[in-house]
Amino acid sequence: MEIYKTAKQMQERSLYWESQGWRIGFVPTMGYLHEGHTALMRECRKRCDILVVSIFVNPIQFDNASDLANYPRNEESDMSVCRKAGVNAVYFPTPDAMYPPGYRTYVDVHEMTSILCGASRAGHFRGVTTVCTKLYNTVRPAVAVFGEKDFQQLAVIRRMVEDLNLPIEIVGHPTVREKDGLAMSSRNARLGAQDRINALSIYHALKNAAVSVAAGEFDAGKLISDARQTIEAAGSAGIDYIEIRNPDSLLELERVEGPAQMFIAAHFGPVRLIDNMKISA
Ligand code: PAF
Repeated sequence: MEIYKTAKQMQERSLYWESQGWRIGFVPTMGYLHEGHTALMRECRKRCDILVVSIFVNPIQFDNASDLANYPRNEESDMSVCRKAGVNAVYFPTPDAMYPPGYRTYVDVHEMTSILCGASRAGHFRGVTTVCTKLYNTVRPAVAVFGEKDFQQLAVIRRMVEDLNLPIEIVGHPTVREKDGLAMSSRNARLGAQDRINALSIYHALKNAAVSVAAGEFDAGKLISDARQTIEAAGSAGIDYIEIRNPDSLLELERVEGPAQMFIAAHFGPVRLIDNMKISA
């Protein structure tokens, strides 16, 4: 497995692969890799000749210094996960190499980044779209795979790729869950034992909403207040949002009369978790 630490080396290698007519597939990550990431790698592997994974905890997408400092990291285990998954190359830049002194350029997708996670995490999506643009220009993928757990991120990336005419196929992969239903996330590692149990209420709230819709409850306000009760009763340290939106436009819905996705962000102990689920038939 090849490992590249600078954009120049990575880009030169990608240009070579392109010159050979090989299709580059890309899975961008912030490391602390788990089964959710390997599922993305497997999906990507099916669609490319050369599989590249980036590992970079992107400082500019964190709105909170302690969240960035506490983000879990394990380089050795990440490399071993990538090796086992048959990754051809890992791009592993340092923050200074990514954003050297004098760095001034950012990519902004408007409107859809000021709702949901964008409302409570100032500058988060600007950080994501900026780093993804830089990663795309370096790795030069024909296809990139993202998890649907970060549903809004996937929608924002799709928008950006279309708006900027980037020649990349964006593929969404269904959320990978633990056996009990908790969405896999690198952040789960920071949950204490009791918070880990309580955090499952997010999954239960989503499932209950889907069951209620199937049973004929279409009022978004009622579905949201039921979900809120479930999560509060489990001792959440705070709910950022519970919303029901159209999965394509991300417009907020008052009634579930067509495609509908419920989105939740809630804190358990020191950890902020997000999840979402299709609740319409
Ligand atoms: O989803 C993530 O892990 C990050 O937001 C991403 C896409 C790697 C950009 O830093």
